[in-house]
Amino acid sequence: MVRRVYIETFGCQMNEVDSARMMALLGKAEYRPADSLSDADLVLLNTCSIREKADQKIYSALGHLRRWKRGREGRLVAVGGCLAQQEGPALRERAPHVDIVFGTHSIARLPDLLRLAEGCGAPVSVDLSGDTSHWEVLPYLADGAASAMVTVMQGCDNFCAYCIVPHVRGREISRPSAEIVGEVQELTERGVCEVVLLGQNVNSYGKKEGEIPFPELLRRISRVRGIRRIRFLTSHPRDLDRETIGLFSEIDTLCPHIHLPIQAGSERILATMGRGYTRKEYLGKIRDLRMAMPGIAFSSDFIVGFPGETEEDFQDTLSVMEEVRYDSSFSFRFSPRRGTRAAEMSGSVAPEEASERLHRLQALQDRHTRDRLAACVGKAMEVLVEGKSAKDPSRLCGRTPCNKTVNFSPVSSGHAALRRVEIRSAGHHSLSGEEGQPHG
Ligand code: SAH
Ligand code: SF4
Ligand code: F3S
Repeated sequence: MVRRVYIETFGCQMNEVDSARMMALLGKAEYRPADSLSDADLVLLNTCSIREKADQKIYSALGHLRRWKRGREGRLVAVGGCLAQQEGPALRERAPHVDIVFGTHSIARLPDLLRLAEGCGAPVSVDLSGDTSHWEVLPYLADGAASAMVTVMQGCDNFCAYCIVPHVRGREISRPSAEIVGEVQELTERGVCEVVLLGQNVNSYGKKEGEIPFPELLRRISRVRGIRRIRFLTSHPRDLDRETIGLFSEIDTLCPHIHLPIQAGSERILATMGRGYTRKEYLGKIRDLRMAMPGIAFSSDFIVGFPGETEEDFQDTLSVMEEVRYDSSFSFRFSPRRGTRAAEMSGSVAPEEASERLHRLQALQDRHTRDRLAACVGKAMEVLVEGKSAKDPSRLCGRTPCNKTVNFSPVSSGHAALRRVEIRSAGHHSLSGEEGQPHG
């Protein structure tokens, strides 16, 4: 009997690719994707616990699912991912209607856990066992997808003072390079031409395992037939080395964009965060990247209101932004996470103060984003089509090599994934253009 599963994914790309793996695993257990909650037999929340707000969102979604479950006999609720890992059995105390709780190292067990739950068990599987058998599962790929995410490692050993990730994803483990390259090959055979390599700290790929270094992995992937674009994230500024920076001028399929989260611009705050680099070292890498790839786009993450952050420290963050002029960034108010060092630190910043700083930071970023977008107007850019434009379905939406979103009117009715688009105007967050006439 075919059953339907509805997967809702919270958090980062690691969760997105894990959800695609869960979908593939459930496919083997005769589950098909449901279009909406109402025709689902199983709802799976793949959760995040990076900030308190993320936790709240999930508990609120679980509240709705209590009602959904009452709608029909036999409906199941499964909760996986980082919040499930963190809470374990306690999650069920707050949400007794949850049938399965499974952590970040139990993905491959999902079909077994489902069988247990169908037989009236209430399985919880949250050991950080180091299990990586889910890597063997090719993540579910929608028909016609041109871009795919590929896991290169899991976990993190950095223990930045504020961060829950090492606690919920476990120690860093790198995937064998042959397996990664094999997956890229398989994806290209299915029509994929862009791969996004994923890990919490891709620059330390393979170091523990004695695998080939990350730059060599990138070279091997670039030699796979059919690969037109390679991206990777996240780079840790401490571990991004000269060889990797040099690849931006060596591999022409490496996209001219790098996500290089600085978090804060103050030396003192960077040190208490335990990030392992100075502002000066970070800016040196930005300069080297610009030399290797003129015009390269930068994005970052920022935390404001970290314990002990003064107005002066915050000004250092704004000045880093002025120096780099990021194309985009994600910024957050510091959120204390149980079990992390920063949760115990003194010098907490008043919430109103932190919000006000966040507001100023985001206003500055908006200005830089608009300037960087405006600089694209009048240029012709290659766009990888991702789908129909949300506002106008007669137009298409895609991304430039430097990761900017473009909505454009197509001229060709074909299914080509890569189109040449003339950029006509820039908005606050995206570009607008028209497809150029194909050449001869
Ligand atoms: N591995 C990546 C980050 C993963 S988490 C890296 O090293 O950059 C994504 C982002 O969430 C982080 O870059 C940070 O900016 C933010 N973040 C993590 N923990 C946080 C916390 N406790 N409060 C606020 N933001 C946090
Ligand atoms: Fe968290 Fe730091 Fe690891 Fe990134 S590098 S996941 S911020 S501990
Ligand atoms: Fe969230 Fe887990 Fe990613 S905590 S940000 S989903 S690694």
